[in-house]
Amino acid sequence: MITDNHPFNINKAGHLEVGGVDAVQLASTYGTPLYVYDVSIIRENCRSFVRTFQELGVRAQVAYASKAFSTIAMLQVVNQEGMSLDVVSQGELYTALKAGFPVSKIHLHGNNKSLEELTMAIDHDIGCIVVDNFHEIDLIERILENKNKTIHVLMRVTPGIEANTHQYIMTGNDDSKFGFNLNNGQADQAFFRLRNNRNIYFKGLHSHIGSQLFETEGLLLAAKLLFQKLDDWHTEYGFTPDVLNLGGGFGVRYTERDEPLLYATFVRELTAAVKEHASSIGIPIPEIWIEPGRAIAGNAGLTLYKVGSMKEIPGVRNYISVDGGMTDNLRPALYQAEYEGVLANKASLPAAGTVSVAGKCCESGDMLIWDLPLPEVEPNDILAVFSTGAYGYSMANHYNRFSNPAVVFAENGTAKQVVRRETYQDMVKNDISYE
Ligand code: LLP
Repeated sequence: MITDNHPFNINKAGHLEVGGVDAVQLASTYGTPLYVYDVSIIRENCRSFVRTFQELGVRAQVAYASKAFSTIAMLQVVNQEGMSLDVVSQGELYTALKAGFPVSKIHLHGNNKSLEELTMAIDHDIGCIVVDNFHEIDLIERILENKNKTIHVLMRVTPGIEANTHQYIMTGNDDSKFGFNLNNGQADQAFFRLRNNRNIYFKGLHSHIGSQLFETEGLLLAAKLLFQKLDDWHTEYGFTPDVLNLGGGFGVRYTERDEPLLYATFVRELTAAVKEHASSIGIPIPEIWIEPGRAIAGNAGLTLYKVGSMKEIPGVRNYISVDGGMTDNLRPALYQAEYEGVLANKASLPAAGTVSVAGKCCESGDMLIWDLPLPEVEPNDILAVFSTGAYGYSMANHYNRFSNPAVVFAENGTAKQVVRRETYQDMVKNDISYE
């Protein structure tokens, strides 16, 4: 059951195993809730993108979108796998620098980059800034002029596509806070400004149409629309892009109803489209950049919880409550996201019924999973919720003053804690007394 939908094994004790380590043992050593990653899956996810581009013989950068899960250890692993990095804030950039990530492979995103963020990026000579709006161009121009420096930039555009996904994670449509509109003249205006500034190397276009995509159509359409603009700029102004960045959004499996495409399929189809469009407008094939976040971290991570109270409402539903919830996984409450799970200590037992898994926050909406088939549940059982590796830890919060869980990496039978559990001292360390 587990191996069909989620890439984890059951060991001889009948326990769930992560990276060759017994999950029940991990829960007892590090406590719960606990985020656990199988590092070999992170590596394999990176490789399926990087390797496919290599096989196709095209120039490419696969930038891990670190918003999905940004910690020093994670960024070190993706760096080891030859990835580039997408950061969207000073905090993510700071983490990357602390992880020793090569600056030339870092790309900065964001729809409201501050003067400080842009200055930090320029001071560190990062690989590229993905420019989002006219205010940002003003700021970049000013910083470069004052510091007498140069920078590579891409222009983020909204190609006017409604990706087939949740409204909150759809970004390429016209009515979006991100980027320059490709069709109403704004992208052209930005093009002139970026090209005419001697401190700016304008490398090409970026678009990201949305997240958790299960088909290539939207991305292929975006590529087509970007090339129409590039064709205009090539014909009228002789511009040839060095880079085309098609963003991230490659879907992963949360439940058995999700049928993600192979990452290699995205890479092959996008590459074929870029080659075809480049040749039809008579320009060299630009370097192709993509930015997978969820596809790298999502299915590699799971969360372990301890079961506590239980409530049976005859004829209605059986609830079990765990020791975490919307503080460590906001996605069910925010997007009605669905998950699957097993009892890590009873992983080989058949289901005895269904239960609904409640978090312990003071909010009725704090439900992690509705109607999950499980063996008979008892207090202190360890519930493992799958596919929490992306946007779990990174969207964790402190509602009800719950501390953020620890993170453990497991690989080849060895576990290592890579983020300490927050303490209550950590929680109040910025509070200042008013007495
Ligand atoms: N590149 C850009 C410009 C993005 O805006 C995003 C995601 C990505 C790459 C990475 O997308 P991914 O490959 O991870 O789908 N918190 C939401 C997801 C928000 C995604 C925002 N942008 C969630 O939990 O589903």
